[in-house]
Amino acid sequence: MMIFETVKKFQEWRNTLPKDQTLGFVPTMGALHSGHESLLRFSAHDNDVTVLSIFVNPTQFNNPDDLKNYPNTFEQDLAMAKKLGVDAIFAPKDMNELYPDQYRFKINESEFSKELCGAHRPGHFDGVLTVVMKLFQIVQPTRAYFGEKDHQQLTLIQDMVSSFFLPVQVIPCPTIRETSGLALSSRNLRLTPEEIQVAPKLYQTITEIKDRDRAIKTLKDYGFKIDYLEDRNHRRYVAAALGKVRLIDNVEL
Ligand code: PAF
Repeated sequence: MMIFETVKKFQEWRNTLPKDQTLGFVPTMGALHSGHESLLRFSAHDNDVTVLSIFVNPTQFNNPDDLKNYPNTFEQDLAMAKKLGVDAIFAPKDMNELYPDQYRFKINESEFSKELCGAHRPGHFDGVLTVVMKLFQIVQPTRAYFGEKDHQQLTLIQDMVSSFFLPVQVIPCPTIRETSGLALSSRNLRLTPEEIQVAPKLYQTITEIKDRDRAIKTLKDYGFKIDYLEDRNHRRYVAAALGKVRLIDNVEL
């Protein structure tokens, strides 16, 4: 398994791959869990070559504490990638590697990115879309794999790909959950033992209580601080904090 920290070295390797080989790409911010594992398995199954990127993208964090506290499990991530047959990891350590322009140029979507998570995290989706665009240019994937847990992100990336005629197929992959229903997330690592007991109520409540106001009240009673709980396009989206950890989830209605 090859590991690259610079764009130049990665591209040199990329250029050695035969043109007729398919390349599956799983972009991540590290702290890999079974959700990422499932994306990597889909990629390895569908493609000749699988590339994983690990980069904690500063431009998508509107809260400096959230960035500072983002979990880092790099050695374990490498072990998981190796076990799953990942061919190459692109893991730039230096922000300038991906932002030689100091974020002077960015992708800005003007509608859906301003709603839901976008309304509560100003600039978040500009950061996500910009880094994904950069990664697609560098990695040149045939297919890219994204989890449905971040459904708003997935939708915006699909729309960006079609708007800019990018030659990549975006593959949505189902949310992986604990048996309790809690959606897997790197942020779950930061929940206290008490919060871990309460966190599954998020999924249970949004699936079981159809009435939106009652669902909001129930979550508040469990101690969640709600950013939003909204039903749109036959899907229910929620973001709520437990203590210092902000959790998101969504279900088809
Ligand atoms: O979903 C994530 O982990 C990130 O938003 C992504 C897509 C890797 C961009 O930094």
